[in-house]
Amino acid sequence: MSADQVQDEKKQGQALLTDIRPENTKKVYIESYGCQMNLNDSEIVAAILADQGFNTTHLMEEADLVLVNTCSIREKAELTVRKRLEKYNAVKRINPKMKIGVLGCMAERLKEQFLEEEKMVDLVVGPDAYRDLPHLIEEIEAGRDAVNVILSKEETYADIAPVRLNTNGVSAFVSIMRGCDNMCTFCVVPFTRGRERSRDPESIIREIGELAQQNFKEVTLLGQNVDSYLWYGGGLKKDFDKATAEAQQNAWDFADLLDRCATEFPKLRFRFSTSNPQDMKEDVLETMAKHNNICKYIHLPVQSGSSSVLQRMNRQHTREEYLALIDKIRNIIPDCAISQDMITGFCGETEAEHEETLSLMDYVKYDFGFMFAYSERPGTPAEKRMQDDVPEAVKKRRLNEIIQKQQASSLYRMQEMVGKTMEVLIEGDSKKSNLHWMGRNSQNAVVVFPKTGTETVGDFVLVQALECTSATLLGNKC
Ligand code: SAH
Ligand code: F3S
Repeated sequence: MSADQVQDEKKQGQALLTDIRPENTKKVYIESYGCQMNLNDSEIVAAILADQGFNTTHLMEEADLVLVNTCSIREKAELTVRKRLEKYNAVKRINPKMKIGVLGCMAERLKEQFLEEEKMVDLVVGPDAYRDLPHLIEEIEAGRDAVNVILSKEETYADIAPVRLNTNGVSAFVSIMRGCDNMCTFCVVPFTRGRERSRDPESIIREIGELAQQNFKEVTLLGQNVDSYLWYGGGLKKDFDKATAEAQQNAWDFADLLDRCATEFPKLRFRFSTSNPQDMKEDVLETMAKHNNICKYIHLPVQSGSSSVLQRMNRQHTREEYLALIDKIRNIIPDCAISQDMITGFCGETEAEHEETLSLMDYVKYDFGFMFAYSERPGTPAEKRMQDDVPEAVKKRRLNEIIQKQQASSLYRMQEMVGKTMEVLIEGDSKKSNLHWMGRNSQNAVVVFPKTGTETVGDFVLVQALECTSATLLGNKC
């Protein structure tokens, strides 16, 4: 996932009061962990609960219902959630009427433990079962535990208009698909979020239209593997072959969707995440090159620079194929920023294989990167069939080496932009000073510049970059 996306160990913040309905008498407090898709799911949950009489609150102590939307991607993310559950239970001891619920990826994995063994929660709801919340809440209000973790073939929540939580009013996320079919051996997502299915393009366009009306300026299209997007009237991607010839002919792929979004909303800027190297095709690159309002930035996780490790990971590409794709991107979109996800110390990773990751990074010189030590996840193919045999200290040392390399290449890419003039979308005050704005350029680099008094949040402005760190460009408005 991208810059702001893989922060699963970090708390993503509580719900802000955005869509308060005066007639609603109950309060829900939602905390979300994990990828942007999870955050977007919390917005769908807030919308469903708004119809059930709940407004969101950022004060846990006053909530009737406390929900935590959870992430299972690494062990640390799960440990963080457990700590939070202990905190909620401490508050519940003071306010016994408060109900506690677990949503998302851990719900699927740990339902029995949460409900039966530890009695830490009243409600457990998996990522495809949020529509069942009204019924489940009735159950807990009647004093019964409630659980639904059934995964669905069709659910995309297409018709639900999310209540935007924690929004800056400028950029929003729109989920275009759910689940993943890739079965990377280290990854728990296909088990916690189910099989891949795409959302009706008409409902996506409708949601983007509403965002445009509310004055949002940037939309990020979300999916575990956006290049695999395929709408043929509904159903799982794997069942496409069984669709009628007509449905297959009228199908929408990701390039079609991207082209339509960019054409229909010329005043909005579009991003997308995540791209999977095996599925990213030239037509998507050409669509990006064709439209000024599609940001020149691709998050292209590689996980390892070694073909043998990639094979053990069941990634469907080799090092050479990945590098060929990088060359193609640079050829079609010369100013495109590229970022990575990387895992160190996967099962059997040798020092020579790790060196291949370092040399791949030297070649690509990624703009950004999100790097992790391998964390074995119960139920994944790697856990079942392979040995988690790289010592923790070695994983960490390798992780530090790739982080250092990434910092050097981030600085290199930033320095390349110094001196250039670029369009920046203002997102808000800079973290360090309210005399400065913070925004992002098309390449997703953070740009900070002094306010001049004539611009405001949500404006597109031209900024000349004058200096940089590895994480920020500093400049002046032109
Ligand atoms: N759909 C995305 C990845 C989703 S998970 C893709 O196409 O790659 C986000 C990132 O978490 C992954 O890219 C991977 O780098 C990391 N990750 C997933 N499982 C992990 C594990 N078991 N241990 C460490 N990192 C993991
Ligand atoms: Fe996970 Fe691989 Fe899908 S990393 S989300 S199984 S593309």
